[in-house]
Amino acid sequence: MAPPKLSIAALDPQSFAVRLDRLAEILRACVHEGASVGFVTPFPLDTARSWWREKVEPAMRGGCRIVLVATADDEVLGTAQLDLDAMPSKRHHAEVSKVLVDPRFRRAGVARALMAEIERLAAQNDRWLLTLDTAGDEAFALYRSLGYTLAGAIPCYARDAVDAGKFDATRIMYKDLRGPPAGAERVP
Ligand SMILES: CC(C)(COP(=O)(O)OP(=O)(O)OC[C@H]1O[C@@H](n2cnc3c(N)ncnc32)[C@H](O)[C@@H]1OP(=O)(O)O)[C@@H](O)C(=O)NCCC(=O)NCCS
Repeated sequence: MAPPKLSIAALDPQSFAVRLDRLAEILRACVHEGASVGFVTPFPLDTARSWWREKVEPAMRGGCRIVLVATADDEVLGTAQLDLDAMPSKRHHAEVSKVLVDPRFRRAGVARALMAEIERLAAQNDRWLLTLDTAGDEAFALYRSLGYTLAGAIPCYARDAVDAGKFDATRIMYKDLRGPPAGAERVP
């Protein structure tokens, strides 16, 4: 697919309300195609909408969560979040989460563009240690391509999104935006 002309923007309460239904659709589509992002099927649109409204919006309004959307021709193609809520000793940390791209617009650089902005905003907020956990191989490939290091894996971390009898592992990853210390060996 030809790369769409993307705009990346952080939502505020007003634009969040405008984008809410579309964010719910993207989350639902990702869960239904098997993404391990905290939910299991069946996953009705109303449940997806409630999660955005009840869990994400208050954190965004409180200033401890940045919610990005990637748009092309005013259609939302993907979204990503940066959680800035950290304990006093960890104010250099931020957690990347819910990097979700509409399955119809994959492999067109949407997630890469979202992550570039996530990292820019993290640095702007003096957060230079980014962490995340991820189960899917596509997401693992994405984060590896962006220089994230695998810290380890936790077996049976979450129920599989579509197979009720199965538990999936997750991988914990991190990136030090300052770069590796001189002479340091890269952890696999
Ligand atoms: C993971 C995900 C966000 C990637 O989104 P995307 O917009 O398709 O990714 P991009 O096009 O920006 O890809 C950037 C790079 O990531 C890697 N990558 C992405 N998808 C890949 C795939 N299916 N297979 C192999 N590598 C992949 C590649 O290195 C790619 O660069 P390239 O296309 O130049 O080879 C998307 O597949 C998704 O939404 N998955 C479901 C939700 C999920 O698991 N999110 C992560 C939760 S933490």
